[in-house]
Amino acid sequence: MERMLNNKVYIETYGCQMNLADTEIVMGVLQNQGYTITKQADDADVVLLNTCSVRDNAEQRIYGRLGNLKTLKYTKPGVVIGILGCMAERLRKDLIEEKKMVDLVVGPDEYRRLPEYIDTAFNGEKGIGVRLSKTETYDDIIPYREDGLQAWISVMRGCDKFCTFCVVPFTRGRERSRNLNSIVQEVQQLSNRGFKEVTLLGQNVNSYFDEGTDFADLLAASAQVDRTLRIRFTTSHPQDISDKLLHTISEHSNICNYIHLPVQSGSNKILELMNRTYTVEHYLNIIEKARKIIPGVSFSTDIIAGFPAETLEDHLMTIDLMQQVRYDGAFMFKYSPREGTKAYKMDDDVAEETKAKRLQQIIDLQQQISFEINQGQIGSDEIILIEGFSRKSDQFYSGRTDTNKIVIVPADSSITIGDYVKTKINKATSGTLFGSFEGIIDPQKESLSLTA
Ligand code: 5AD
Ligand code: SF4
Repeated sequence: MERMLNNKVYIETYGCQMNLADTEIVMGVLQNQGYTITKQADDADVVLLNTCSVRDNAEQRIYGRLGNLKTLKYTKPGVVIGILGCMAERLRKDLIEEKKMVDLVVGPDEYRRLPEYIDTAFNGEKGIGVRLSKTETYDDIIPYREDGLQAWISVMRGCDKFCTFCVVPFTRGRERSRNLNSIVQEVQQLSNRGFKEVTLLGQNVNSYFDEGTDFADLLAASAQVDRTLRIRFTTSHPQDISDKLLHTISEHSNICNYIHLPVQSGSNKILELMNRTYTVEHYLNIIEKARKIIPGVSFSTDIIAGFPAETLEDHLMTIDLMQQVRYDGAFMFKYSPREGTKAYKMDDDVAEETKAKRLQQIIDLQQQISFEINQGQIGSDEIILIEGFSRKSDQFYSGRTDTNKIVIVPADSSITIGDYVKTKINKATSGTLFGSFEGIIDPQKESLSLTA
């Protein structure tokens, strides 16, 4: 099938927020070339899966999905099926040569040339572009975004940390940052379009660096664009949390008081084997300092259960750390060996059953802590951004605090989606707060944060 103007492309996105942001870049590139975006795979001439390799189960899901998409090829033989993202580099041989499942495989630094690779595939050859770049940041590409309240901007790409369990440095390459001015301009454009919240993204967002400016400078510059626009950021590495960054968060009422700070383990022995470059003591110091500098700050984390050589004692240290920090939320995983990483060569010696048991203990404890923290919120006032109707009923609105907690409030007729609303919390579960409607906040005149 020849490529024609108005060919339709469908993209499914797996994995982290960086991938969601990349999908918008891909759609921006393709739209520039005359493609239209469709939300239905069976309506598309090009079907792309933007993939994740971070854990084995993510890859297995994508193989499963490719199996389903085979039926699409029977009914529409000319359709081009392609893999983008982290699986591209890792598995191109398997996907193209061995399993012959796809027509095109394009890695995260080659999206500019995606239209060429699609043309190659339309001409009956395999489109392959998996080279990683030291410089590509897509600084000049305008991502395709539908109107809405929340947007994300990837401000740096890649990772130089080389945690021993992680494939990201191999699948996404070296760290590089976008130009500060172009990011600030993008924030301005989003504000002009009516967005209310922007998340600055990077695998290691706080190691952002551009000609003498660091991540704290970028945050401050973004926050100054529009005081009624909330700024969030993720993911932060404990090694790069500076005092300057903490003070910057504290000084700007529209920079959200929420830090996602992956700890991975509570045992110094395991942290060293993971090459995390900090100790538990250092990590706890950061938390303590952040809580002093940013009153009311909330924390979430990532934890891996069952890393090689993890003993029961090490696991209990993780439990102990969780009890000390009392995270507001956590993403918790079983260790999954990834080919090519340093840990892959270590003996994966924690039995599957033990990994599962430890993970469950971690999940149960986090749920209990989240429940207790949320119960403690009852009676307090919060400012939330109304994001839409609650999932369960259009009698209620769902909003979010700047500490990233979901609050359900009755759908008062004076509230519009996108409003900042003051609420008094009167009920709480481990995942959700419930509040009464106390009044609309005028963000031009009032602070977006009650603690700032
Ligand atoms: N096994 C389990 N979890 C992993 N993560 C990254 N690599 C692995 C792996 N091999 C988790 C880490 C990281 C998050 C994005 O995914 O906790 O912070
Ligand atoms: Fe992976 Fe570690 Fe880099 Fe995060 S900091 S992307 S876990 S190597």
